[in-house]
Amino acid sequence: MTAATARAHPNIALVKYWGKRDRALNLPAVPSLSLTLDRFRTRTTVVWGVEADSVELDGALAPAPAAARVLAFLELVDPRRPPCRVISESNFPVAAGLASSSSAFAALALAASAAAGHDTEPTALSLLARRGSGSACRSLWGGFVEWPLGERSDGADCHARPLAPPDHWDVAMVVAIASGAPKPVGSRDAMEHARRTSPYYATWVQTAADDFAGARAAVLARDLQHLGEVMEASTHKMHATLHTARPPVLYQVPATIACLHEVRALRQRGTGAWATMDAGPNVKVLCHRSDAAEVAAGLSPHVAHIEVLRPGGDPALEPR
Ligand code: DP6
Repeated sequence: MTAATARAHPNIALVKYWGKRDRALNLPAVPSLSLTLDRFRTRTTVVWGVEADSVELDGALAPAPAAARVLAFLELVDPRRPPCRVISESNFPVAAGLASSSSAFAALALAASAAAGHDTEPTALSLLARRGSGSACRSLWGGFVEWPLGERSDGADCHARPLAPPDHWDVAMVVAIASGAPKPVGSRDAMEHARRTSPYYATWVQTAADDFAGARAAVLARDLQHLGEVMEASTHKMHATLHTARPPVLYQVPATIACLHEVRALRQRGTGAWATMDAGPNVKVLCHRSDAAEVAAGLSPHVAHIEVLRPGGDPALEPR
């Protein structure tokens, strides 16, 4: 029996991963770019070689579908694995569009690989984490991370890589939690539904490479206005594929829209703030760190809860 415990931070996509060219392998239809957050984290222990498989999430036995997904992931680590015990907890609301699967599968990839005595080099782990959840491949690094498309049909070159470290740029992500309730449709099903039924999906895919290139250049040049504009374009195009799907998927609640208007009002008053949303109702606002308190104050009348996060670091194994 061997055990390992790993911690990983979630990441928020500035240019979204949305749609797959291969669903079995989680190969994306578009390139994406993200910011890894500090403070929020998933902590996962894998005990390799016990009597029977078990999966515990946030202090309770995992529901059957979640347990099956975790155990199927362990088969990727080693198809001849022994029974394992997995214990995982996150210090932020899961299933609310806060990218919990990104930190979950990054932490699981690192803990399981270490417990199994395998390679824990980040690129190998990024390839592995991608199979659990696409966005997780970007949580293998802190700071700004890019996930290019890759070319191979087997996905062997489809992994994320670091673009700029956490201290590259003094930015903050202000997270306005419009609702902590579990979302009605998960991102996996929603992106496939949009791919199959939205007439806007093809345009989304066609325009993604330009957004990726623009955001990449803006991060490297520390150009917040350019990055903010590309980021807002990416999130609204992603949600346009959902609003035009059949039936449509609407993640926004009234507080979401109020936050989007507030971000525009902040900009009109001269504060550099731009919004992004994932597959959920919450709004994440990118700004300079020096403006974060003002942004949080502007958003706070609209939502019950606000968190101010900064660029976070790499995943890590806990010392044994
Ligand atoms: C909206 O990574 O959860 O957060 O690969 O099917 O597990 P699967 O999808 P997932 O999708 C994330 C979608 C997103 C955008 C992003 O993180 O890039």
